[in-house]
Amino acid sequence: ATGHLADQFGRPLTDLRISVTDRCNFRCSYCMPKEVFDKDYTYLPHSALLSFEEITRLARLFAAHGVRKIRLTGGEPLLRKNIEVLVGQLAALRTTDGQPLDLTLTTNGSLLARKAAVLKAAGLQRVTVSLDGLDDTVFRQMNDVDFPVADVLMGIDAALAAGLGPIKVNMVVKRGTNEQEILPMARHFRGTGVVLRFIEYMDVGATNGWRMDEVMPSAEVIACIAAEFPLRPLEPTAPGETAQRWAYADGGGEIGVISSVTQAFCHDCSRARLSTEGQLYTCLFASRGHDLRPLLRGDAADEQLIAAIGHIWQGRADRYSELRALRGPDAAADGSAPRRVEMSYIGG
Ligand code: GTP
Ligand code: 5AD
Ligand code: SF4
Ligand code: SF4
Repeated sequence: ATGHLADQFGRPLTDLRISVTDRCNFRCSYCMPKEVFDKDYTYLPHSALLSFEEITRLARLFAAHGVRKIRLTGGEPLLRKNIEVLVGQLAALRTTDGQPLDLTLTTNGSLLARKAAVLKAAGLQRVTVSLDGLDDTVFRQMNDVDFPVADVLMGIDAALAAGLGPIKVNMVVKRGTNEQEILPMARHFRGTGVVLRFIEYMDVGATNGWRMDEVMPSAEVIACIAAEFPLRPLEPTAPGETAQRWAYADGGGEIGVISSVTQAFCHDCSRARLSTEGQLYTCLFASRGHDLRPLLRGDAADEQLIAAIGHIWQGRADRYSELRALRGPDAAADGSAPRRVEMSYIGG
């Protein structure tokens, strides 16, 4: 039994984000602030992690349900041991119409120089690298583990050389922290074929101390860049896309903005998220997931797993960012709401 699914608002399930570890070697304050993720923080034990076989089995069933795109996330996915073996298994899967999946990975780039070639050889199609500034001092401050920007830039070069393109670079913009890096980043990646995307700082998780006044609206980012390099809007390439795309008018390539706070994009959100330990989340801002492990580790047949996934997706009514916009930003800090899952656990 295969078929395509629709949720309560008619949104299809086409996109699966798989978190392969809840650990990271960075401590970005908007994601894993040091005060919370310190040496006493308890990460998942190895036995709780889904094995590569379990992940691949689930991915195959999702593909049979209409998923066309798989993104590996974390934490930092390249910290998962032998990740290229998983990439190889996923690269062998096919969509319902017999195509390879769009298989990609979001990384902080710290291990990319070492790993780009093996990932490509295993069948990874492209990578997205997070990079919050070019200035070494600002970058070391953002990652909060004193990691040098030059190593990430070498990772991006290695990915380009390995053919892992088109490469996207994600910059989370925090007003008062790295907004002065917007133009240097735009100048640096213009004309290189790398697609730079600016992300509004989001109120994910429960530990980053999010405040609306630290969000720089994408409209301001675009105005800032357009003042130096004229831009024109581009049409979306696919429904449910996170980024609005803009082209440099002179042909210097494209950039994007991801505006989850000021312009929610829930209406056609087609993304499911699988946590490192097999919880299925139907929204980035969910407070609970649906545990698939009992079925996976019991002796459930594929049909039972498919039915469970279908049931979960068909019941989905999440539209967190739209509701936040309706209620006003202060509702995001409402302490009475259920505690949201951490981004490092669910994988962005
Ligand atoms: P592409 O398919 O390559 O365009 O990637 P993507 O934008 O789907 O994923 P990526 O990992 O690059 O994420 C970019 C930013 O968008 C990150 O900050 C994510 O947390 C955020 N993001 C991704 N999906 C969603 C979503 O469904 N809702 C919200 N609110 N943010 C999302
Ligand atoms: N707001 C916006 N983006 C975030 N990311 C992590 N935490 C946040 C947040 N609070 C980004 C990372 C990475 C992507 C997966 O999510 O920088 O690019
Ligand atoms: Fe690590 Fe990415 Fe979170 Fe930074 S944003 S702490 S690099 S998982
Ligand atoms: Fe999708 Fe939830 Fe993000 Fe809205 S807030 S786009 S429903 S993941």
